[in-house]
Amino acid sequence: MKALILFSSRDGQTRQIAFYIANLLKEQRECDVFNIQHVDDIDWAQYDRVLIGASIRYGHFQPVVAKFVKRHLNALQQRASGFFSVNLTARKPEKRTPQTNAYTRKFLLQSPWEPDCCAVFAGALRYPLYGFFDRTMIQLIMRMTKGETDTSKEIEYTDWQQVSRFAHEFAELPSKL
Ligand SMILES: Cc1cc2nc3c(=O)[nH]c(=O)nc-3n(C[C@H](O)[C@H](O)[C@H](O)COP(=O)(O)O)c2cc1C
Repeated sequence: MKALILFSSRDGQTRQIAFYIANLLKEQRECDVFNIQHVDDIDWAQYDRVLIGASIRYGHFQPVVAKFVKRHLNALQQRASGFFSVNLTARKPEKRTPQTNAYTRKFLLQSPWEPDCCAVFAGALRYPLYGFFDRTMIQLIMRMTKGETDTSKEIEYTDWQQVSRFAHEFAELPSKL
């Protein structure tokens, strides 16, 4: 059976991570990747495992993620499943686990879905891509948290080896079907 990967991404980093994981999984099995905003009906019979990845903006995941989980809860619970979050707080290694990353911990506590594996990945900081308001806000947050404040910079903090390890953990979950 196939694996399904769904992503919620604003600036493309979570999308990139989703496709990176899909390429690793495709060495062993078929895998579909979709933007969670654009999926409507899913033919669940094709999939024995599902992975959802979502990024943070101003402290929140996009509401579509929680809505999807609520609507498809049975299908998620019946399959091997995983969740990963992407944010800049996780550029600090001590904030890069589901327990130590506040956004992820809160999501898991509030969600009726209990994924079988979970990871937190550091995202990207791409000042030149942001509009004036977002650039100013992110610079302020970076100043407060001792991060990069040079607005000419684009920095990718994602640890791709961590992503690979998680992809293997997800691939090796025993099937529930
Ligand atoms: C407008 C904006 C707001 C953000 N807010 C937060 C935040 O509250 N906390 C955080 O840790 N990261 C925050 N980030 C960082 C993003 O989570 C990070 O850039 C991530 O890579 C974005 O993933 P995406 O490209 O898939 O949307 C913010 C980024 C932007 C552009």
